[in-house]
Amino acid sequence: MADIPKSSVELRGVSKWYESGEEGTAPARRILDGLDLVVEAGERFAIVGPSGCGKSTLLNLLGTLDAPSEGKVIIDGIDTSGLSENEIARIRSEKIGFIFQMHHLLPQCTALENVLVPTLALAHRPDPAVATERAERLFERVGLGDKLHRQPGQLSGGERQRVAVIRSLINSPRLLLADEPTGALDEDNAGRLIELLVELNDSEGLALIVVTHDRAIAGSVGAIRTLHRGKLEG
Ligand SMILES: Nc1ncnc2c1ncn2[C@@H]1O[C@H](COP(=O)(O)OP(=O)(O)OP(=O)(O)O)[C@@H](O)[C@H]1O
Ligand SMILES: [Mg+2]
Repeated sequence: MADIPKSSVELRGVSKWYESGEEGTAPARRILDGLDLVVEAGERFAIVGPSGCGKSTLLNLLGTLDAPSEGKVIIDGIDTSGLSENEIARIRSEKIGFIFQMHHLLPQCTALENVLVPTLALAHRPDPAVATERAERLFERVGLGDKLHRQPGQLSGGERQRVAVIRSLINSPRLLLADEPTGALDEDNAGRLIELLVELNDSEGLALIVVTHDRAIAGSVGAIRTLHRGKLEG
């Protein structure tokens, strides 16, 4: 795997709070509170914690979709707070894949078109034929080789979630952030999806973080870290 570029993400003393909106009212609650985390290339773990504890907030910071109120987000040794929006967006499209709590597929586009959307954000757009070929291989790999041209409405929940997984992988990210990826799936489909993510972590060496409130799912990812009072334990 020597040809795969290594990548790491580090949170240093990261806090996040939201202003309450009204001046002089109760102080803003710290959702994250001086949190430190290093995610090494190829690593894999789950994050658990009750609803509202800040799991999605944490993933959004790791994925540069949001900025911390305090502290640093460092990607491959670069402090992102010194970068412009465009530079951050570029790092994000090249290095990070997301599977969101809701899959957010575009209903009017086919599965294949949905998967190709992230390639449009790359500074050096791949040849569409090459991107399509990679997409087709990924569809085959997740057992959807015959459903490329269906719209999301013509797919089952499990199939839609697999399309969202392929979309997150199309730009060959080095870090995959999955926020409750199995939330809408039955037990069998949930198990299969996690197996697929773990297999990708093994075979492609991409770091994988799965947020879930389900301890069984977390256990099948591997190590479990708990978000508690704004910090990660375990
Ligand atoms: N834009 C916002 N403005 C104000 N408060 C917010 C905002 N986004 C999130 N919060 C609050 O921050 C806290 C953490 O939210 P977050 O979405 O990270 O929780 P979570 O752990 O992902 O929960 P769940 O398991 O339900 O998805 C919640 O109390 C939420 O209400
Ligand atoms: Mg959440």
